[in-house]
Amino acid sequence: MRPRAYLDPMPVRGRIARPQPKGLPLINMGFNELPYPPAPKVAEALALAAQRAQSYGSPHNDALRAALGARNGLASDQIICGNGSEELLDVIARVFARPGDEILISEFGYIQFALTANRVGASLIKASEQAFTSDIDALVAAVTERTRILFLANPNNPTGTMVPLAELARLARTLPPTVVLVLDLAYGEFAPEGYCAQVHGLVAEHENVAVTRTFSKAYGLAGARVGWCHGPDWMIPLLYAARGMGTVNALAQAAACAALDEMDVVASRVREIVSERHRLAAALTTLGFTVLPSQANFLLISPPDGTPETTEALVEHLFDTAGIIVNRTREAGLERFLRFSLSRAAHNDLLLETVRAFLDGPP
Ligand SMILES: Cc1ncc(COP(=O)(O)O)c(C=O)c1O
Repeated sequence: MRPRAYLDPMPVRGRIARPQPKGLPLINMGFNELPYPPAPKVAEALALAAQRAQSYGSPHNDALRAALGARNGLASDQIICGNGSEELLDVIARVFARPGDEILISEFGYIQFALTANRVGASLIKASEQAFTSDIDALVAAVTERTRILFLANPNNPTGTMVPLAELARLARTLPPTVVLVLDLAYGEFAPEGYCAQVHGLVAEHENVAVTRTFSKAYGLAGARVGWCHGPDWMIPLLYAARGMGTVNALAQAAACAALDEMDVVASRVREIVSERHRLAAALTTLGFTVLPSQANFLLISPPDGTPETTEALVEHLFDTAGIIVNRTREAGLERFLRFSLSRAAHNDLLLETVRAFLDGPP
């Protein structure tokens, strides 16, 4: 006899478990991280905070919320921070969903939404997409009286595609007010300028809309684990009720505050990644790849013959010959695709060269 668990076990998953056969340094293009180290002021803030690590950070992240509010033109008491935005997705689910309830997502929606639904025992409902893009009409049609939350990422991971603001506004207007609409903007900074601010505007117009953001992508602080949620007044105290007391650690708070003072650095890095995205998308299209129209810091691509076997062989080839790690998307139902994060030009060039050699076949 053993204690009874309510969840299925989650195996520890290796990406590519074997060592790189040539002993090359690994180039991880599989996690949608930024390829740059923290800006000098961010590194300084981290070092300073490390010297005070005997003390707790602010439990309600006061300085960080104030800085986020000022930077984004939002009321700081409508902001809650979390240990990465993934914590806040869980927090929202714990507040609003229970077994028997439904959580609605888009067909190729971010994998974490499904994990979150599983954790609270809610049923996961998927609405079909059009051209690998969330379909607002299909989402609205999938709402039932048991729907409690609709999680929607724009741009979405792993597809990289995005729904325009007008469609999101239509969704917010059409959805029953009893369904929480969570708009995940983890990659929003890589979308056309102004998109994030406009999406935040929907929170002011609707009592049931919340927006999540992260420091893991454009701000390059994935290891610090800082995310935030902007929601209506009434919702924030409920989210605090479900969140741990000191989940954003003091070092992470200091790093995030410093990053908000380095917006020029953030903006120039985002510009470089977006320009590399255009360059790689064009080059891969010329090589015959299917390249989804990404608005994020990664591309979802499928090789010219479009078979899952070729995709798998290419994933292995990138690792074996260049040490490049990319992301397999078969678990998301995208067997013929692979996803890679845009990096600096030299690593992106290496990826292109390795892809070309793969297509040319053995010499
Ligand atoms: C769409 C999307 N949302 C949220 C997250 C969670 O990011 P974090 O917990 O690092 O803020 C990710 C991470 O990859 C993501 O792809």
